[in-house]
Amino acid sequence: MTSDASRKTERPAVMLAPMAGITDAAMRVVSGEMGASLCFTEMVSAEGLVHDSLRTSQLLEKLPGEPQPVAHIYGGNPDSMAEAARIITERGGYAGIDINAGCPVRKVMKCGGGAALMQNPTLVGRIVSAIVAHTDLPVTLKTRIGLHPGAVTVFDIVKAVEDSGGAGVTVHGRFASLMHSGLVDLELLRQTVESAGIPVVVNGGVKSAADALALLSATGAAGVMIGRGALGNPWLFSEIRAALGGAEPAAPRSQSDSEIVAMLKRHFTLSLDLKTLLKSKYPPELCTCKDPELSAVHDFRHYMFNYFKGRPGSLVLRRRMDEYETIPDVMRAIEEHVLNFSPPSFSETRDVAANTGEVETHGIDQDAVKDC
Ligand SMILES: Cc1cc2nc3c(=O)[nH]c(=O)nc-3n(C[C@H](O)[C@H](O)[C@H](O)COP(=O)(O)O)c2cc1C
Repeated sequence: MTSDASRKTERPAVMLAPMAGITDAAMRVVSGEMGASLCFTEMVSAEGLVHDSLRTSQLLEKLPGEPQPVAHIYGGNPDSMAEAARIITERGGYAGIDINAGCPVRKVMKCGGGAALMQNPTLVGRIVSAIVAHTDLPVTLKTRIGLHPGAVTVFDIVKAVEDSGGAGVTVHGRFASLMHSGLVDLELLRQTVESAGIPVVVNGGVKSAADALALLSATGAAGVMIGRGALGNPWLFSEIRAALGGAEPAAPRSQSDSEIVAMLKRHFTLSLDLKTLLKSKYPPELCTCKDPELSAVHDFRHYMFNYFKGRPGSLVLRRRMDEYETIPDVMRAIEEHVLNFSPPSFSETRDVAANTGEVETHGIDQDAVKDC
């Protein structure tokens, strides 16, 4: 956990949540440039790292000059988790190790990790102690308030982290049974913050600076973590920071077309840099990216929609996405989209279907991750 998250007297930290298939180095750099104080990697299997899986290793890749991210790992075996932490520490360039103790997908729970840990504070304590013994980095854990309303385990989990040398926790204020929808339980979050002896960062449902201020003021947390609200909207981080500094909270998604286009181009360039780095570093048969251009364009098809979500023509854009295969295609698509649908008069023409709260991800198996 950053030093600014560790003392409640300091301004609250504003963090980018770990999101599988989304928070790669490109997304992290964009978020960091816009004011995220700390960014988390995609989730990485401890067993995969221990068994030297190059595919797993690629998920931890960083871009040159990227501020140190927190490595977010999952697993249920204290020895493997500790060894994974040792490998990450030796690799260098990470701000901390974060344990996934909230993701309810089968792949993660099957190995005893994620939400499976929420009902086993003793095991959580063993995992945290084992990791702490193998790294000098701060060790944190991300969890939920419980599996379902009849199983509020967050207090025991936080206590286990605290007693085992953990530096902090992030709590997503929804039960695992609610997946991503439903209300965030502010009262349980507040009680968690109040009873914890370590910094607690709160997470869930923040889509605007006003949401972030409300969540922080209702809970007294050391920081706020943003997940889906940052998709296609990295400005949210600077808006929250400004509001924490006393500015009037900005209206969400009020950027001009040219600001969006500039940000999209920046995001795409970083994505291409990352794919090129992966291709240069890993053997072709094990590299997740065979063709950097095609791979960056493939990702772009998905996140571009998030940038224009809710604006005129976003559905047209979505339908056309499969046409893009090259960098010139992408650049033309960005320019044409803005030309065709600008100036926006989106109060009247807002695409209703584009506002369903859907998450556009990077074409990975979203059934496997979306309920984390
Ligand atoms: C596509 C996707 C992938 C996610 N992957 C992870 C993950 O790997 N680990 C984790 O702890 N949470 C994961 N989450 C949950 C988020 O970190 C966050 O807790 C959740 O989205 C609630 O925050 P929000 O309302 O700001 O989106 C994921 C969420 C989404 C939408």
